[in-house]
Amino acid sequence: MSLAINGKAYGPFEVRDELSMNDFLREYLGMTGTKFGCGLAQCLSCAVIVDNPDGTSHTSPTCVVPAANFSGKSIRTVEGHAQNGQLSVLQKAFVEHFSFQCGYCTPGFLNEGQVLLERLAKTPAARADLDTTIRDALNGHLCRCTGYVKYHEAVRAVILADPNRYLS
Ligand code: FES
Ligand code: FES
Repeated sequence: MSLAINGKAYGPFEVRDELSMNDFLREYLGMTGTKFGCGLAQCLSCAVIVDNPDGTSHTSPTCVVPAANFSGKSIRTVEGHAQNGQLSVLQKAFVEHFSFQCGYCTPGFLNEGQVLLERLAKTPAARADLDTTIRDALNGHLCRCTGYVKYHEAVRAVILADPNRYLS
């Protein structure tokens, strides 16, 4: 398999059919920012961003998906958000809002929030729908430290700081 991760080409690799994408990232590539939580596609701590050829993006769990399924794809992981030593806008907002405690769920929330921001930059949401939009986007991500409100507030703050970009 070959793929692009955070804009860089990797491969070709030979991988066993049953090797999960989570094990591939963490054990083959040493990219341990992608976490392993439930292993059952229930918590999304293992989610990465998949960039589609049509310019859209979505998140995907990696714990239950074979690495081979990502062959030819372009993905982003938590390691790719900071650029030149600078945290992304959303990462800064997570820090400023004390969104995380242990941080185990943070890569998944970060990837999901980033996908939402990029989607809204293309298709802005109505101001009245903002909270529902954020809630729907982050739904499914579990935080055992119960940081849900703080994550929500951080994403909301990024959007409200640039309403012309994200809101209709
Ligand atoms: S570890 Fe993949 S969804 Fe929980
Ligand atoms: S910050 Fe600990 S699981 Fe979310």
